[in-house]
Amino acid sequence: MLQTSALTYRYRNGKPIRFPDWTAGPGEQWWLSGPSGSGKTTLLHLLAGLLRPATGEVRVGEQALTTLAPAQLDRFRGRHIGMVFQRLHLLPALTVTANLELARYLAGLPRDGVRVHSTLERLDIADLAHRRAHELSQGQAQRVAIARAVVNQPRILLADEPTASLDEANAERVARLLCDEAEACAATLVVASHDRRLGRWLPQRLDLAEGRVAA
Ligand SMILES: Nc1ncnc2c1ncn2[C@@H]1O[C@H](COP(=O)(O)OP(=O)(O)O)[C@@H](O)[C@H]1O
Ligand SMILES: [Mg+2]
Repeated sequence: MLQTSALTYRYRNGKPIRFPDWTAGPGEQWWLSGPSGSGKTTLLHLLAGLLRPATGEVRVGEQALTTLAPAQLDRFRGRHIGMVFQRLHLLPALTVTANLELARYLAGLPRDGVRVHSTLERLDIADLAHRRAHELSQGQAQRVAIARAVVNQPRILLADEPTASLDEANAERVARLLCDEAEACAATLVVASHDRRLGRWLPQRLDLAEGRVAA
Protein backbone atom coordinates (compact mmCIF):
# COMPACT_ATOMS: atom_id res chain seq x y z
CA MET A 1 0.00 0.00 0.00
CA LEU A 2 1.18 3.45 -0.95
CA GLN A 3 -0.38 6.57 0.53
CA THR A 4 0.12 10.31 0.29
CA SER A 5 -1.43 12.93 2.55
CA ALA A 6 -1.21 16.73 2.42
CA LEU A 7 1.90 16.34 0.30
CA THR A 8 3.69 19.42 -1.05
CA TYR A 9 7.14 20.02 -2.44
CA ARG A 10 9.03 23.18 -3.17
CA TYR A 11 12.15 23.46 -5.29
CA ARG A 12 14.61 26.16 -4.38
CA ASN A 13 13.22 29.44 -5.72
CA GLY A 14 10.13 27.61 -6.96
CA LYS A 15 6.45 27.79 -6.13
CA PRO A 16 5.05 25.01 -3.93
CA ILE A 17 3.64 22.02 -5.80
CA ARG A 18 0.59 20.42 -4.14
CA PHE A 19 -0.21 16.77 -4.68
CA PRO A 20 -3.58 15.08 -4.22
CA ASP A 21 -4.24 12.76 -1.28
CA TRP A 22 -4.06 9.32 -2.80
CA THR A 23 -3.98 5.65 -1.82
CA ALA A 24 -2.82 2.80 -4.03
CA GLY A 25 -3.36 -0.76 -2.83
CA PRO A 26 -1.05 -3.73 -3.19
CA GLY A 27 -0.96 -5.09 -6.72
CA GLU A 28 -2.72 -2.07 -8.20
CA GLN A 29 -1.40 -0.61 -11.44
CA TRP A 30 -1.56 3.16 -11.88
CA TRP A 31 -0.88 5.58 -14.68
CA LEU A 32 0.34 8.88 -13.19
CA SER A 33 -0.71 11.29 -15.93
CA GLY A 34 -0.47 15.02 -16.53
CA PRO A 35 1.14 17.50 -18.87
CA SER A 36 4.83 18.30 -18.84
CA GLY A 37 5.72 20.31 -15.73
CA SER A 38 2.70 19.10 -13.72
CA GLY A 39 4.90 17.37 -11.12
CA LYS A 40 4.92 13.69 -12.17
CA THR A 41 8.66 13.20 -11.77
CA THR A 42 8.65 15.16 -8.52
CA LEU A 43 5.88 12.93 -7.13
CA LEU A 44 7.73 9.74 -8.13
CA HIS A 45 10.83 11.02 -6.35
CA LEU A 46 8.77 11.85 -3.27
CA LEU A 47 7.20 8.37 -3.34
CA ALA A 48 10.69 6.87 -3.50
CA GLY A 49 11.92 9.06 -0.65
CA LEU A 50 14.52 10.65 -2.93
CA LEU A 51 13.04 14.07 -2.18
CA ARG A 52 11.85 15.18 1.22
CA PRO A 53 8.41 16.82 1.19
CA ALA A 54 7.91 20.41 2.36
CA THR A 55 4.75 19.24 4.11
CA GLY A 56 2.76 16.05 4.34
CA GLU A 57 3.72 12.43 4.24
CA VAL A 58 4.29 9.39 2.05
CA ARG A 59 3.56 5.98 3.58
CA VAL A 60 4.74 2.68 2.18
CA GLY A 61 2.72 0.11 4.07
CA GLU A 62 2.90 1.22 7.69
CA GLN A 63 6.15 3.09 7.20
CA ALA A 64 6.11 6.91 7.02
CA LEU A 65 9.17 7.82 4.95
CA THR A 66 9.94 11.13 6.72
CA THR A 67 10.45 9.38 10.06
CA LEU A 68 13.42 7.42 8.68
CA ALA A 69 17.00 8.70 9.08
CA PRO A 70 18.87 9.01 5.75
CA ALA A 71 20.74 5.70 6.01
CA GLN A 72 17.60 3.85 7.08
CA LEU A 73 15.69 5.46 4.23
CA ASP A 74 18.31 4.35 1.68
CA ARG A 75 18.07 0.80 2.92
CA PHE A 76 14.26 0.88 3.05
CA ARG A 77 14.14 2.17 -0.52
CA GLY A 78 16.60 -0.45 -1.70
CA ARG A 79 14.60 -3.18 -0.08
CA HIS A 80 11.01 -2.17 -0.88
CA ILE A 81 10.95 0.32 -3.76
CA GLY A 82 12.07 -0.38 -7.31
CA MET A 83 12.60 2.58 -9.60
CA VAL A 84 13.14 2.82 -13.34
CA PHE A 85 14.46 6.33 -13.87
CA GLN A 86 13.93 8.28 -17.04
CA ARG A 87 17.69 8.26 -17.66
CA LEU A 88 18.01 4.70 -16.31
CA HIS A 89 21.12 5.46 -14.17
CA LEU A 90 22.85 2.13 -14.75
CA LEU A 91 26.50 2.07 -13.72
CA PRO A 92 28.12 2.09 -17.17
CA ALA A 93 31.41 0.36 -16.33
CA LEU A 94 29.74 -2.52 -14.48
CA THR A 95 28.34 -5.63 -16.11
CA VAL A 96 24.62 -6.22 -16.21
CA THR A 97 24.95 -8.84 -13.46
CA ALA A 98 27.03 -6.48 -11.30
CA ASN A 99 24.42 -3.74 -11.67
CA LEU A 100 21.79 -6.13 -10.25
CA GLU A 101 24.11 -7.47 -7.54
CA LEU A 102 24.85 -3.91 -6.46
CA ALA A 103 21.12 -3.25 -5.99
CA ARG A 104 20.98 -6.23 -3.62
CA TYR A 105 24.12 -5.16 -1.78
CA LEU A 106 22.88 -1.57 -1.28
CA ALA A 107 19.64 -2.93 0.17
CA GLY A 108 21.59 -5.03 2.67
CA LEU A 109 20.45 -8.26 1.02
CA PRO A 110 22.67 -11.32 0.63
CA ARG A 111 24.16 -12.26 -2.75
CA ASP A 112 21.73 -14.35 -4.73
CA GLY A 113 23.05 -15.45 -8.10
CA VAL A 114 19.98 -17.57 -8.77
CA ARG A 115 17.62 -14.66 -8.22
CA VAL A 116 19.75 -12.35 -10.39
CA HIS A 117 19.87 -14.92 -13.16
CA SER A 118 16.16 -15.74 -13.06
CA THR A 119 15.31 -12.03 -13.19
CA LEU A 120 17.46 -11.59 -16.30
CA GLU A 121 15.89 -14.69 -17.84
CA ARG A 122 12.36 -13.47 -17.21
CA LEU A 123 13.20 -10.21 -18.98
CA ASP A 124 14.84 -12.16 -21.81
CA ILE A 125 18.27 -10.59 -21.31
CA ALA A 126 20.21 -13.47 -19.71
CA ASP A 127 22.53 -13.41 -22.74
CA LEU A 128 23.59 -9.88 -21.76
CA ALA A 129 24.62 -10.86 -18.21
CA HIS A 130 28.34 -10.23 -18.72
CA ARG A 131 28.12 -7.21 -21.00
CA ARG A 132 28.99 -3.83 -19.54
CA ALA A 133 26.08 -1.45 -19.26
CA HIS A 134 27.70 1.14 -21.55
CA GLU A 135 27.80 -1.44 -24.37
CA LEU A 136 24.03 -1.89 -24.43
CA SER A 137 21.48 -0.44 -26.83
CA GLN A 138 18.88 1.89 -25.31
CA GLY A 139 16.23 -0.83 -25.41
CA GLN A 140 18.53 -3.38 -23.78
CA ALA A 141 19.58 -0.85 -21.12
CA GLN A 142 15.94 -0.18 -20.33
CA ARG A 143 15.29 -3.89 -19.77
CA VAL A 144 18.32 -4.05 -17.49
CA ALA A 145 17.01 -1.04 -15.56
CA ILE A 146 13.66 -2.83 -15.13
CA ALA A 147 15.49 -5.99 -14.02
CA ARG A 148 17.47 -3.99 -11.47
CA ALA A 149 14.27 -2.37 -10.18
CA VAL A 150 12.61 -5.75 -9.51
CA VAL A 151 15.55 -7.91 -8.44
CA ASN A 152 14.81 -7.24 -4.75
CA GLN A 153 11.11 -8.04 -5.21
CA PRO A 154 9.93 -4.57 -4.19
CA ARG A 155 6.49 -3.72 -2.83
CA ILE A 156 6.40 -0.62 -5.00
CA LEU A 157 7.58 -0.35 -8.61
CA LEU A 158 7.93 3.16 -10.04
CA ALA A 159 8.78 4.07 -13.64
CA ASP A 160 9.29 7.53 -15.15
CA GLU A 161 8.30 8.06 -18.82
CA PRO A 162 9.32 4.54 -19.87
CA THR A 163 7.63 4.75 -23.26
CA ALA A 164 8.94 8.16 -24.32
CA SER A 165 10.14 8.02 -27.94
CA LEU A 166 9.10 4.36 -28.39
CA ASP A 167 6.97 3.26 -31.33
CA GLU A 168 3.62 1.57 -30.78
CA ALA A 169 4.87 -2.02 -30.59
CA ASN A 170 7.77 -1.23 -28.26
CA ALA A 171 5.69 1.03 -26.01
CA GLU A 172 3.21 -1.79 -25.53
CA ARG A 173 6.01 -4.29 -24.92
CA VAL A 174 7.56 -2.12 -22.19
CA ALA A 175 4.19 -1.38 -20.56
CA ARG A 176 3.36 -5.11 -20.47
CA LEU A 177 6.81 -5.90 -19.09
CA LEU A 178 6.30 -3.47 -16.22
CA CYS A 179 2.82 -4.86 -15.49
CA ASP A 180 4.08 -8.46 -15.60
CA GLU A 181 7.05 -7.71 -13.36
CA ALA A 182 4.86 -5.84 -10.87
CA GLU A 183 2.48 -8.81 -10.82
CA ALA A 184 5.35 -11.22 -10.26
CA CYS A 185 6.30 -9.24 -7.10
CA ALA A 186 2.67 -8.43 -6.17
CA ALA A 187 3.94 -4.84 -6.19
CA THR A 188 1.98 -1.63 -6.62
CA LEU A 189 2.98 -0.18 -10.01
CA VAL A 190 3.07 3.56 -10.72
CA VAL A 191 4.07 4.69 -14.21
CA ALA A 192 4.48 8.45 -14.69
CA SER A 193 3.95 9.54 -18.26
CA HIS A 194 2.48 12.21 -20.46
CA ASP A 195 2.02 9.44 -23.06
CA ARG A 196 -1.75 8.90 -23.41
CA ARG A 197 -1.19 5.35 -24.65
CA LEU A 198 -0.50 4.28 -21.05
CA GLY A 199 -4.24 4.50 -20.39
CA ARG A 200 -4.69 1.37 -22.51
CA TRP A 201 -2.45 -0.79 -20.36
CA LEU A 202 -2.80 0.57 -16.83
CA PRO A 203 -6.25 0.19 -15.26
CA GLN A 204 -6.06 3.09 -12.77
CA ARG A 205 -5.16 6.71 -13.23
CA LEU A 206 -4.04 9.59 -11.03
CA ASP A 207 -4.05 12.81 -13.02
CA LEU A 208 -1.92 15.77 -12.02
CA ALA A 209 -3.86 18.47 -13.76
CA GLU A 210 -2.28 21.70 -14.79
CA GLY A 211 -2.45 24.28 -12.05
CA ARG A 212 -1.05 22.11 -9.25
CA VAL A 213 1.91 24.41 -9.15
CA ALA A 214 0.54 27.27 -7.05
CA ALA A 215 0.33 30.58 -8.90
N1 LIG B 1 15.45 20.53 -10.08
C1 LIG B 1 14.49 21.44 -10.19
N2 LIG B 1 14.67 22.72 -9.76
C2 LIG B 1 13.69 23.63 -9.83
N3 LIG B 1 12.46 23.40 -10.34
C3 LIG B 1 12.21 22.15 -10.80
C4 LIG B 1 13.20 21.12 -10.75
N4 LIG B 1 12.66 19.98 -11.27
C5 LIG B 1 11.41 20.29 -11.63
N5 LIG B 1 11.13 21.59 -11.35
C6 LIG B 1 9.83 22.27 -11.59
O1 LIG B 1 8.83 21.59 -10.85
C7 LIG B 1 7.64 21.46 -11.63
C8 LIG B 1 7.29 19.99 -11.82
O2 LIG B 1 8.30 19.35 -12.59
P1 LIG B 1 8.33 17.80 -12.87
O3 LIG B 1 8.06 17.07 -11.61
O4 LIG B 1 9.60 17.49 -13.59
O5 LIG B 1 7.07 17.63 -13.85
P2 LIG B 1 6.75 16.50 -14.94
O6 LIG B 1 7.55 15.28 -14.61
O7 LIG B 1 5.27 16.29 -14.82
O8 LIG B 1 7.11 17.07 -16.26
C9 LIG B 1 7.91 22.21 -12.94
O9 LIG B 1 7.42 23.52 -12.79
C10 LIG B 1 9.41 22.19 -13.03
O10 LIG B 1 9.88 23.28 -13.77
MG1 LIG C 1 8.86 14.13 -15.74
